[in-house]
Amino acid sequence: MNLTGPYFGEFGGRYIPEALIAALDDLSDGWEKLKIDPAFKEELAELNRTYTGRPSIITEVPRFSQHCGGARVILKREDLNHTGSHKINNVLGQALLTRSLGKTRVIAETGAGQHGVATATAAALLGLECTIYMGAADIRRQALNVARMRLLGAEVVSVNQGSNTLKDAINEAFREWVATVDTTNYIFGTAAGPHPFPALVRDLQRIIGDEAREQVLALTGSLPDWVLACVGGGSNAIGMFTAFLDDEDVRLVGLEAGGEGIESGRHAAPISVGDVGILHGAKTYLLQDEDGQTLESHSISAGLDYPGVGPEHAHLSAIGRVEYRPVTDAEAMEAFALLSRTEGIIPAIESAHALAGAMKIGTANPDATILVNLSGRGDKDVETAAAWFGLDGSATREVF
Ligand SMILES: Cc1ncc(COP(=O)(O)O)c(C=O)c1O
Repeated sequence: MNLTGPYFGEFGGRYIPEALIAALDDLSDGWEKLKIDPAFKEELAELNRTYTGRPSIITEVPRFSQHCGGARVILKREDLNHTGSHKINNVLGQALLTRSLGKTRVIAETGAGQHGVATATAAALLGLECTIYMGAADIRRQALNVARMRLLGAEVVSVNQGSNTLKDAINEAFREWVATVDTTNYIFGTAAGPHPFPALVRDLQRIIGDEAREQVLALTGSLPDWVLACVGGGSNAIGMFTAFLDDEDVRLVGLEAGGEGIESGRHAAPISVGDVGILHGAKTYLLQDEDGQTLESHSISAGLDYPGVGPEHAHLSAIGRVEYRPVTDAEAMEAFALLSRTEGIIPAIESAHALAGAMKIGTANPDATILVNLSGRGDKDVETAAAWFGLDGSATREVF
């Protein structure tokens, strides 16, 4: 099962202004050619080896497993990639695609800042101009990543609209792309949006699952019983799941942001409780009111704070191949603290949603082997975590 789009079942497509159709066609044709070009494959593989640090390792976490009913838990360590998350896998490929299309400038949106940092990094590496759109609320909660992007030479544009988060940054980036499409490529950060982005991003992220499948087989001699990943737009999850879609005995679970609880209405769980509609150029599940207006989402993690989801996930849910479950802010923060204290690994709050899923699934299935995608590291989230846990920057104790 490896769908190329534009449609994934009834989901996907291109619901986008006419002015962008030619650019999306160029991107699609350019990618279909480039992805089978041996010189490109070698260049990307070399960058993955010598710049990103791939293959990323897997780590078994026995002390954390004790909080997962004793189930065997294995982490795929995307947090160890250069720039600190899985986003770099996608961006390096799309930056090389930009160059092959003869464009000299890139724009991107970012929520948690990880995709913005990855894009600014690749732009610096390839000598491309770079502008990043970011919601004003995310600029406040991810100040460290804003500083990183600026140090890397990118212009960061604050978007003061709607909920001042990722959805609004994407709207603004599309608006700018319409006006600058001759020189500028839009490096989309997740497996959502209009065709070809969902398939393009999936193709570039599937390295996560391809590596992990081989690594788990080598370590344990069999496939995992469960494979878990957090779902914002869905790029780290689809990257992980793609390698296991044909393995019917492997249960795949995407963990959405349940925020303050599904019943509170303050969450970002469009597959668990959303309806079918159109968002950012694709037909998918999203949070909307009865008039079809997109609702504001909420999550403690900026990277999951998005009211929609990539169309391939909508399809995988509709056909029952992947289950999607919500995890609350509180459950994610408990998992965040536990992995830090039991294993010495501070995860991104996004990834902590997947870890919270492992705690629940492991407790119900203590004999299982669970593979969890650790999509990023938690450096960017230290301030949020300090506020959540009431750490005010003072020492544990004083001596006189
Ligand atoms: C570390 C990390 N994990 C996950 C996500 C969510 O994105 P996606 O669902 O595309 O993997 C983000 C987004 O910023 C992120 O920074």
